[in-house]
Amino acid sequence: MTSRLTGTVALVTGASSGIGAETALALAAAGADVALVARRRDRLEALADRVRSLGTKAEVVEADVTDRAQAVGAVQQAVTALGRLDTVVNNAGVMLLGPVEGAPVEEWDRMIALNLQGLLYVTHAALPHLLEAAAGSRATADVVMVSSIAGRSAQAGMGVYNLTKHGVGAFAESLRQEVAGRHVRVSLVEPGPVATELFTHIRPEVLEAGRSAFAGTPLLQAGDVADAIAFVVTRPARVVVNEVLLRPDGLA
Ligand SMILES: NC(=O)c1ccc[n+]([C@@H]2O[C@H](COP(=O)([O-])OP(=O)(O)OC[C@H]3O[C@@H](n4cnc5c(N)ncnc54)[C@H](OP(=O)(O)O)[C@@H]3O)[C@@H](O)[C@H]2O)c1
Repeated sequence: MTSRLTGTVALVTGASSGIGAETALALAAAGADVALVARRRDRLEALADRVRSLGTKAEVVEADVTDRAQAVGAVQQAVTALGRLDTVVNNAGVMLLGPVEGAPVEEWDRMIALNLQGLLYVTHAALPHLLEAAAGSRATADVVMVSSIAGRSAQAGMGVYNLTKHGVGAFAESLRQEVAGRHVRVSLVEPGPVATELFTHIRPEVLEAGRSAFAGTPLLQAGDVADAIAFVVTRPARVVVNEVLLRPDGLA
């Protein structure tokens, strides 16, 4: 069946779990061939089988995008294997919460390395290919940044995660202005809490301290965010959805 993304190629970072895995499936369901980028190859291989069962191609790309050479290599592998690049979903991210006072600074380094530097490396390497695709007959290409409601406001105990996601928002707006005239659409998708592995990396003492705040918090499902991303990248070329903020019902 031909649909909006038939004949296009998407690259999704952080495709081995959560929002990234569901996004890869949603884009494949819309017709895209998909490059699946993350570090856990076994997860990517299993997902690739599911993508192929939808009738599109999948390329497994084992890469740590915090390493610039690997990020560049990931984009190159995708283009070499699948022939072009129309859509990049910068989704890989980590959320290591806790107060600034006494924080293990290596957690900050990890968030900055992945949520900011990894996203920058992938975007920089992908941009020439996206501009080339956008100059073709389809007349559009997409960069989606998976930010967060944590990129819209700040909360105690989330400072460095807030810093990275606010930074993603600023970078997205600046990039949008640079490439808007050349038909590359830049979009920010900002979910509230989603039921994924993201919370499992938080230190137990931080989780314990926040237990009452977290308890009963309504959650989105990863597929809800994937639906939003698929919506953004399947609009007609004349339509640009620059920002989508999603909250679970019941979240104040
Ligand atoms: N869950 C939420 O509540 C929520 C809310 C708002 C925004 N977000 C954002 O959504 C995005 C996806 O998170 P998620 O909730 O789906 O969490 P998740 O299930 O933990 O997914 C994170 C993904 O990032 C990948 N990753 C981690 N380090 C990497 C590295 N160095 N290089 C390449 N890939 C790496 C992981 O794969 P490997 O370990 O296999 O590399 C995994 O596929 C993040 O940017 C997060 O900030 C999440």
